[in-house]
Amino acid sequence: MEPNLSSRLTKIMIKVEGLSKRYARNVAVDDISFEVNKGQIVGFLGPNGAGKTTTMRILTCFMPPSAGKATVAGFDVMEQPFEVKKRIGYLPEVPPLYPEMEVGEYLHFVGKLKGIPKGDLAKRVKEVSEKVNVAEVSNKLIGKLSKGFRQRVGLAQAIIHNPDVLILDEPTAGLDPKQILETRQLIRSLAGDHTIILSTHILSEVEHSCERVIIISQGKLVAQDSVANLTNRLRGAESVSLEVEAADGRPNPTEVQGRLEQVAGVSRVMMKDSKDGRLTFEVESLQGRHIRAELARSVVNSGWNLSELRAVGLSLEDIFLQLTTAETKEVGGQK
Ligand SMILES: Nc1ncnc2c1ncn2[C@@H]1O[C@H](COP(=O)(O)OP(=O)(O)O)[C@@H](O)[C@H]1O
Ligand SMILES: [Mg+2]
Repeated sequence: MEPNLSSRLTKIMIKVEGLSKRYARNVAVDDISFEVNKGQIVGFLGPNGAGKTTTMRILTCFMPPSAGKATVAGFDVMEQPFEVKKRIGYLPEVPPLYPEMEVGEYLHFVGKLKGIPKGDLAKRVKEVSEKVNVAEVSNKLIGKLSKGFRQRVGLAQAIIHNPDVLILDEPTAGLDPKQILETRQLIRSLAGDHTIILSTHILSEVEHSCERVIIISQGKLVAQDSVANLTNRLRGAESVSLEVEAADGRPNPTEVQGRLEQVAGVSRVMMKDSKDGRLTFEVESLQGRHIRAELARSVVNSGWNLSELRAVGLSLEDIFLQLTTAETKEVGGQK
């Protein structure tokens, strides 16, 4: 069947429209829509339980959506799963490896399953083995491989039929720092020929590997942007840890909290601790606002003793909160 014409013209490789997935009681994916162009590397970023794996399993035809539609290269995952599977290589969270098989033997087996003609199989296995650097362990049992090598064999099985699209579910999870670098390099070397979606719950992972990022949280799409734009949007926001000395109950926590909340550019103040005469707060700024000097001034002008003021990194959770808050404001039209 003909893939739909508009997809071919605009080079949209993956199109997801109003996709939802409900398990018995909870909604894992809630009405998400996005597009990925040919040759792009897109990071699918979200905390654990956000719905990343579920979305990937729908895209790879492992399970049907409850609602909505997804197409790969113009083919519908529900209506034309064979066409979709031909064009997709999938590295699940746990690669589908057989510990009792040798690496070379396994790749032959997978290649055959994926319909590579018998005459091309040996050549293709050799090519991918070299590409992902597993040629040296070709005769080793998969069960005896290190985690890093197993992940590479997982990548080899995903690319053996030279698919247009690669779907990689947390490809660097559980690897050591050296293996992470090697895997990132490998993924980048696959870009261009392939359209890639990789999922991660680590923000820095998308900065290293991706051009675009799609952020999901609790099944909902929170933001999608270029990595450069996202980094710029987040760069300005800071989170500050602040400590005020208290003696004989003065100042009291509510008083300090109220004062800090009045500082311009502050988005949130949280009381963290109050012991040994020290009140600790965490204060977050709005994007692009530098609040440290003003916070210090406000404490000192109130006649209190500032015992500590330091920047702390924003956690992924904070970032989601910031992004969701910003989106809501924009939608409401009150900038
Ligand atoms: N087979 C399943 N049955 C019921 N709930 C599931 C199943 N798989 C995942 N979930 C739930 O769906 C939500 C999304 O999970 P998942 O897609 O695995 O998220 P992520 O990959 O982002 O960590 C979670 O709340 C999870 O508990
Ligand atoms: Mg997952």
